[in-house]
Amino acid sequence: MKRRDFIYWVGLGWLASSLPVAIAACSSQTTAPKSSASGGWQTVGTSAELDQTGQLLAKNSPVGPVLVVGKSTDTNLTAVNPTCTHAGCTVAWQAQAKKFSCPCHGSEYGIDGKVQRGPATTALKTYAAKIERNSVVVKPA
Ligand code: FES
Repeated sequence: MKRRDFIYWVGLGWLASSLPVAIAACSSQTTAPKSSASGGWQTVGTSAELDQTGQLLAKNSPVGPVLVVGKSTDTNLTAVNPTCTHAGCTVAWQAQAKKFSCPCHGSEYGIDGKVQRGPATTALKTYAAKIERNSVVVKPA
C-alpha cells in the first residue's frame, strides 16, 4: 500500500467514525416528555376510582406515591404523599376522625398533613389536587 493510499484510508475511516457523533451533537432535543403533564399537573387516577371509597391511593404515580381524599364533586380535594415521615410505612386515611394514621407506630397527621401525634415529627408532603376531565390530577403544592 502506498503512503498516499494509507493516508486516504485512515482519513476516510476517521471521518466515517466521527460523523455519527457530529450528527448526534448537532441534533436538537425535540422529543416531548412522556408524561401527560399539563402545567405540572399529573394524572393519578380517575374520578370514578376516587368516588368508590372517597380515597385514591396511587403508589406509582408520576410524582411518587399519592393518596387523594375526597369526592370528585368536592371543590377542595386533599392529596398527600402517604409515606410516613417517621420510618416510611404507608399511612391510611381515617374518614370518621378526618386524619391520616400510621399502622406501624401510631403517628397521626391532620388533613393538612401536619403531625398531630408522634413519633413522627415532620409533616406529610402535600399536593394540590383537582378533577380534570374525569381524571384526578395533582401537582406539588
Ligand atoms: S413509620 Fe409511621 S409511625 Fe413509625
